[in-house]
Amino acid sequence: MTPPPVLVAFESRFGATAEVARVVGEELAARGHAVSVRRTSEVLDPTPYGAVIVGAPVYSRRWLESASAWVRAHGESLRGRPLWFFALGIRVPDGPHANERHTVRLLRRLHHLVPGIEPRRIGLFAGRVNPAIVGLREQLQLRVFRPRTGDFRDWDKIRDWSRGVAEELGSAAPASARSVSTR
Ligand SMILES: Cc1cc2nc3c(=O)[nH]c(=O)nc-3n(C[C@H](O)[C@H](O)[C@H](O)COP(=O)(O)O)c2cc1C
Repeated sequence: MTPPPVLVAFESRFGATAEVARVVGEELAARGHAVSVRRTSEVLDPTPYGAVIVGAPVYSRRWLESASAWVRAHGESLRGRPLWFFALGIRVPDGPHANERHTVRLLRRLHHLVPGIEPRRIGLFAGRVNPAIVGLREQLQLRVFRPRTGDFRDWDKIRDWSRGVAEELGSAAPASARSVSTR
């Protein structure tokens, strides 16, 4: 019997987290899991999925609210399902503005997002800041904040984390189930 697919649900304002979600999906698929990579807004019901990974960027010290809202809205269905979170930011440990207090607060918030829901692990990855592609509001924030700009994503670290998730998911599905669906 084919095991149920794994859902990689993501939110992303300017595409950096979307690309990471795709790579997480690729790594799981390479290990035999059927994977579906979708924006959280496209997932009306996570019940058909055997395991769920939710990824979103951090803006103004918080995981993007739409991702938190999705987890809260589906708390009932996510409870008891293998669950992982990941977050992209620049204040996370490998980011150019690593900040321990910020990281600790972020992890605590994510662990306690919904009572009774406990992600197995939370991946924290450095993200991308490109002032040329963000909106006016973000440009104003960046003018105050003046972060180092660039693409700080460490693909080896992201792939390693994804392989860890694949291992925790247990034995791989049959080769015939290998696929990444983005629709
Ligand atoms: C206006 C603005 C505010 C941000 N605030 C934070 C923050 O508080 N903490 C952090 O770690 N990263 C922060 N970041 C960095 C983003 O999390 C990072 O750029 C991320 O890769 C964006 O992902 P996306 O392209 O998927 O939206 C901020 C970026 C911008 C543009």
